[in-house]
This record gives sequence, C-alpha cells and structure tokens, in this order.
Amino acid sequence: MTVPAMAGDGTVVHPERWPKGQSPLPPDPAIESRIRALLAKMSVEDKVGQMIQADIKYVTPDDVREYRLGSVLAGGNSKPPGQPFPVASQWQALSDAFYHASMDTSRGGLAIPVLFGIDAVHGHNNLVGSTLFPQNSALGATRDPQLIHDIGEVTARELRASGISWTFAPTLTVPQDVRWGRSYEGYSQNPVLVAEYAAAVVGGLEGKPGTPAFLDAGHVIATAKHFVGDGGTHNGKDQGDAQVSEETLRDVHAAGYAPAIKAGVQVVMVSFSSWNGVKMAGNTALITGVLKERMGFDGIVLGDWNAHGQVPGCTNEDCAAAYNAGLDMLEAPDSWKGLYKNTLAEVKAGVIPMSRVDDAVTRILRVKMRLGMFEAGLPSANALAVRSAEVIGSPPHRALARRAVRESLVLLKNNREVLPIDPRKHILVAGDGADNISKQNGGWTLTWQGTGLTNANFPGATSVWAGLQAQVKAAGGSAELAVDGDYKQKPDVAIVVFGEDPYAEFQGDLPNLAYRPGNDRDLDMLRKLRGQGVPVVAVFLTGRPLWVNREINAADAFVVAWLPGSEGEGIADVLLRAPDGRVAHDFHGKLAYAWPRSAVQVPVGAAAGGGRPQFPYGFGLTYADHGTTSTLSEDAGVALSSGQAGVYFTRGKPARDFVVRLIGANGKTTNVAAVPAATPDGSLHIGALDYKAQEDARSLTWSGTSAGTATVELVAPAPLDVDRETNGDVLLVTTLKVDAVSPGDTSTIGVGCGEGCSGSVPVGQQLSALPQGQWLRVGIPLKCFRDAGANMSRIDRPFEWSSHSGGQVAITDVSLGTVADRTLACPSHGDKP
Ligand code: BGC
Ligand code: BGC
Repeated sequence: MTVPAMAGDGTVVHPERWPKGQSPLPPDPAIESRIRALLAKMSVEDKVGQMIQADIKYVTPDDVREYRLGSVLAGGNSKPPGQPFPVASQWQALSDAFYHASMDTSRGGLAIPVLFGIDAVHGHNNLVGSTLFPQNSALGATRDPQLIHDIGEVTARELRASGISWTFAPTLTVPQDVRWGRSYEGYSQNPVLVAEYAAAVVGGLEGKPGTPAFLDAGHVIATAKHFVGDGGTHNGKDQGDAQVSEETLRDVHAAGYAPAIKAGVQVVMVSFSSWNGVKMAGNTALITGVLKERMGFDGIVLGDWNAHGQVPGCTNEDCAAAYNAGLDMLEAPDSWKGLYKNTLAEVKAGVIPMSRVDDAVTRILRVKMRLGMFEAGLPSANALAVRSAEVIGSPPHRALARRAVRESLVLLKNNREVLPIDPRKHILVAGDGADNISKQNGGWTLTWQGTGLTNANFPGATSVWAGLQAQVKAAGGSAELAVDGDYKQKPDVAIVVFGEDPYAEFQGDLPNLAYRPGNDRDLDMLRKLRGQGVPVVAVFLTGRPLWVNREINAADAFVVAWLPGSEGEGIADVLLRAPDGRVAHDFHGKLAYAWPRSAVQVPVGAAAGGGRPQFPYGFGLTYADHGTTSTLSEDAGVALSSGQAGVYFTRGKPARDFVVRLIGANGKTTNVAAVPAATPDGSLHIGALDYKAQEDARSLTWSGTSAGTATVELVAPAPLDVDRETNGDVLLVTTLKVDAVSPGDTSTIGVGCGEGCSGSVPVGQQLSALPQGQWLRVGIPLKCFRDAGANMSRIDRPFEWSSHSGGQVAITDVSLGTVADRTLACPSHGDKP
C-alpha cells in the first residue's frame, strides 16, 4: 500500500525522508505459517475481538470469553476488583482469570491467549512493595545507558513475578516545553540522549533480539510511546497540537523510534496529540506510511486511552478511521463493547477492508507468538511468579534503584562548601518532602495521579529522612525531623526537602514555570533557618525544571533530586560524608533539561531556541568545583498569583474570581458576598462552620417547605474546558458532610454549560446512605455529567447542587480529582451506542 502525501500545508509527509528501518528479527517462517493457519480458521468476530483492548475496571473474564477480546489493560486507577493496593498474588490471580477465559472455547471462538498490559513506567509502579525507580526526567541526568538497560531488566522481572508480561513503556517523548505535566515521563529534551536510552531500555525490558533471552520468561513486551510529537505540543498542553515542521517531528520527536525498533520493540502506542492540527490516531501517512512501511515496524500499533474518539467523525465507540489509518488495536477502556459492535459491522460492510483486519491480527498474533504465549501457560506458573516474594523489591533490585538515585542528583549550587555534610553533627531534616514517599515518587505510582497515599502504602521503601537518619545515626551524629522547620535543638546544618506534589496527565500542566506561585511556605522556611544562622541545604523534589531562583538564593546548597522513587537513601549517600570523613559518592548528574532563568522562559534551551537558560543543558557541579554561585535574579517575569487549575472552592471559599450563587425556589438569584446569607424566599440558607480551621467550611440548609427547587452553584469567571479530563476518568470531588437528609432526598449535583445547558445526576439516595455527621471526600465521575447532557468543553458552573427536599449538609472544597472516599454511581456509559 502506498500512502499519498496528505494535502494541506504542514501536514504533508514524505516517508522517503524518514530513516529506513527494519525489524531486527528476520521473518520466522514457522511463526508466519502458524499465523496464516490460525487466521484462516478465525471468524470475523474472532478477528475483531483481537483488535480491541478493554480496561479491567470495565471488563470481566466472562466478557473476554464471550467477545474473544485480544487484550486487556489495567489503567492507572484500575486494580483487581476490591484491591486498591494490590500485591503480586492479586495481580497473578487476575491475570490467570483473564488467561483462562481467553483459552476457554466453550462459547465458541479459538483459544488465543489474551495480552495483559499495564503502565510500569518507573518500575512496576502499580504493585505494592515493588522497586520504584526514579522517574525518567531523573534518569536523563545520569547519562548512563547501561543503568537504563538494567532498570528495564529489573522492571521486567518484577512484572513477570506478578503475572504480567506487557508494559506501556518506555515513553520516548522529547519534551520541549516543560509546562507539560508529563515532562517527567521523558528522559530529556535532547533527542540524541532519548535515542541512546531508547535502545537501552527496550533491550532491558525485552532482552536482545536473536538471543535466547529475547522475550523469554524473564522479559516483557515493551511499548514505545507516544508516536509522535507528544512532547512538542503548543504551550506544552497535554493532548495538544505539535506545530512543527516534518523535519523537527522526525529529528526531535521521533528520534527514539528507529533505535527502539532496531532493538526489537514489539508495540508502538500512538499519541493523543495532533501534528499541525491532524490527530495522530487518524494520520495514515505517519502511521502506515512512515512507521510501518518506511521504518519497518512489524509489531502492534496500539491506540491510546479512547484517543480514537478524538479523530474527526469518530466517537469512543466507533472509529473505522483509526483502524484504516493503520492502528491495529484500540484502547477502548470503557467503550469496548460499543466499539466491538460497530467495528464488526464496519468490517462486514467493507468500511474497514479485510486486508487491513488481517494485517492487524497478523501483527497481534506475531507478538503473542514471539512472546511464546501459546506455550507459556498460566501467568502465575512463570518461574519468577512462583517465587515472587524473593523477586519483588529484592535487595539487588533496590540497590540498583538507590544507585540510580545517586547518579541522578544534580548539584546547582554549593556555596561555602556546605556539602558534603559531616554525619557526626546535629542535622535538621525539614520540609514536607522529608518523610513523604508519595511525594518522592510523583504520578503513576499506585494510583494514576500518585495521590491519596501514605508511607504505609510503600512497604520496603525508604524516605529521604529515613535514609539520612540511618546514616547519621550509624556515624554517631544526631538527626532531627521537623517538617515545619521548628527544631528542638539548634542544628549544625539543615536539609530542607520540598517540591512538587504528585500529578500525572493534564493535572500537571502549568501556565508558567513558577514553583508554587502564591504559596511561599518553603521559601519562608529556607529564609528563616538561614536567618537563624543555620547553613541550609535545599533538596528539590520535582518532575521538571521550575523557576526557583528565590529558593536557590535562600539556600547555601541546592540539590535537584527529581522524583527519586522508593529508595530515598540514595540522597544520604551523596549528601553525607562516610563516617571516616571520606566522600563516598560524588555528584554525577548533569541536567538533561535546561533550567529556566524566569518563569516565562519557555521553551528553554530547547531545539527551538528560547534564550540563555539559568543553568544550561549538561550543567551539574561536583565536589571538585569550589566556586561560589552569586545571587540570581528574582524577577519571575510574571506576577506570581495563586490559583490552581481545577480547584473551584477551597477552605470554604470560592477560588479566585469564582462566585457562589444561590437560586431560590422562586428563581431569584443571590450572589453570596459574605455568610450567613439566604435566598429571599428562605428556601436555602448558607452559613459558616469549622472543618479543620475556623470557618473553613459552609453549611447549606434547604428548608424544603416551599414548592420548588433551590440551588447553590459556583460560577466560573470564564468557561472551563474539561473535555480531556472527562475522557480521562477524572472526578468532581467535594469534601462534604451530610448532617440531615431524608431517604427520599431529591438532591442533584451537576454542572452548567451556558444558558440552558447543564448535566446533573440524582444523588439524594446515595447521600442519604452516607454516614451522617462525618466528613468524606465524595467524587462524581465527570462523564456522568457529559452523559447527562453537559457540554464539557464550556463549563461555566462547575458545581450546582439542587434540591427541593429539606436537608442540611456542609462542604469545604470542590475540585477536580481522582481519589475519593466514595465515588457516586451514575447511569452506566459502557453500553451506549
Ligand atoms: C496514557 C498512556 C497510558 C494509557 C494507559 C493514557 O491516558 O496517555 O500513556 O499508557 O493511558 O494507562
Ligand atoms: C486511567 C489512566 C488513563 C487515564 C486516561 C485514567 O482513569 O486510570 O490509566 O491514562 O484515565 O486519561
């Protein structure tokens, strides 16, 4: 098939200008003839089933048995039923159940083992007790491809030990604008480094092609993602548009793909993003013309999470265009059933040609055969799975992760040679990152956004504090933990650990590079300690470079620790001297992303230019450097105003420029400037009460005596676009307390989208079932509102609570989130046409 160049400026593709490649595996005649034989026996239903991947939150083994689905995935928030924090045996049992279903032909079809995929992006990060490696932006700083290879190998072993043989990694993105919240998933802004690492990590995960190790029982299928341009989107917007030339797309953003293919990568995931306005999931020229035909990729091209639904003319349940563009398997987490039915009809009608279907299924079967799935048997029977307790989080695995932490630390400043620290002194360890393993790990850690966790969720892991304390104690010194910096004994030196809180897709996008604008808590602590004459070492936990010139000035030494993962002791290894006074480990890390001079310097030091950075790509001091860093400019280049995206109501008050409005049963509206307040007809009353601080919550009382509905709502200063969040399973979360509602309560919670536009869900019954008088974080999936008719791309009232029955509740905050104590149900969306 030759692909004609696409019409229109900036979207024309010239496959012949892309690197020519081929699979490192010569066609295996035995496998290819086995595929042909199997294909000849498969019905159209069997074939279409192979081309669909459903999420374990929305699909059961019975569904797999019935629909002959080729694959399932566990998304970031999808766990074995009833197991929010799964251990190896629970993943094994689930994987076994799906495997059994796929091999059971009692309801027809052929026995074809199902592929089970998961995001193991910094170690096997959905498994409790696993080894968690530094996130990729940290690994970039190590400049150590062999280490990257070994991390891939260990990740593969821990996956296999839990009965899973496919990861959605590595991310080969080359982020150019780190306002993008997924920047930490990328190794570097430098395509050369990404290309070098691509081969290394694929080799570690899959083993070397042509050797017996390749895809053996200790290795897994790797996925190069997200093809292509995910790190090049305009303004760093997640799922946005990469407005770059074909040359830049090829030389910068695609740099990792040819080496990954050469190293034998078996799956490529297509990006959510667009290239010059064309959604990648519908781009025939790039998928079929470049990736498959020119670069010789012979494995599976996988779609991203309902990304096909964004192709013009498509929905999540229907997208012939994506298959026709060359995608072989679509990730249809909650939409698989509709997609199955529609795709089947389209194949039967010839809208998707049978030759295309056969190509897709051939590739899927090829990967399954290369992995030896037809012979391997139960996932739990794998040799590593059988001894999972020894394999997962084992001492050698953790030692590797700890080495990766040491190698990734980047020293930006070390005035007065405050580092290395003599461990025989009295050392204060402060900051909210000091003893916070969740914060060390960031997103894609046990939960999708990495939120809602405590240290207890990380058995076997070590916080930064625990590592420091152990070594200081062993050396005969003393260490004191005081998160807020208020020490008991005046320290000889303070180590302040602070930085970004966990986030993942779209939740992490920023308008500029200011660190925590409007909240100077960490800066104040650094200044206060220094003001007391204590030498201060700042340890910054972050997924990406941010503008922290004020914090750098306020500290004597400044260490970027990135998101180091589960082995926090790697930080003590480098910051402290050995007990005998030697320097055991020097700094090794060099910036793999340039560091910005102001909060608006984007992109910085990127291929596209952007002016002189504060610290250039490749910067990183060692203990051999004895210079002094002079004071840096404290001009952020932008007003440091607070206001967090996705937070609508906080500590009992509307977010900046939002308004609280009451609508009485008689339709009259009242803007609430101060509390208490009420509608003139008395149908709804709002007052103040205490949640964690004085008057940091609001009570709402519906009198229920009037004949109509009264509403409280939050009005946004400008319409909000939460379409992506809706697609991504984000919740509207409110911390609330039900004091009195009747079993027949008529409450609805919804959102508004302009005059006459809204979507709301009945919640009265579920609210009345909640424990009364108890504060709870209650979430409602955004897709409930979409399914109830709201236009999620222009929300002007992100929260509306209506009722005509009497009741009393209290709320303290309303925001977008992904973790809740209770998630309310809405009418099911999985079965919609
Ligand atoms: C992300 C992918 C991920 C997939 C499955 C998507 O939203 O973009 O990187 O592999 O979800 O969790
Ligand atoms: C899933 C993630 C997925 C995201 C899509 C979440 O619910 O858990 O794996 O990437 O939705 O945006």
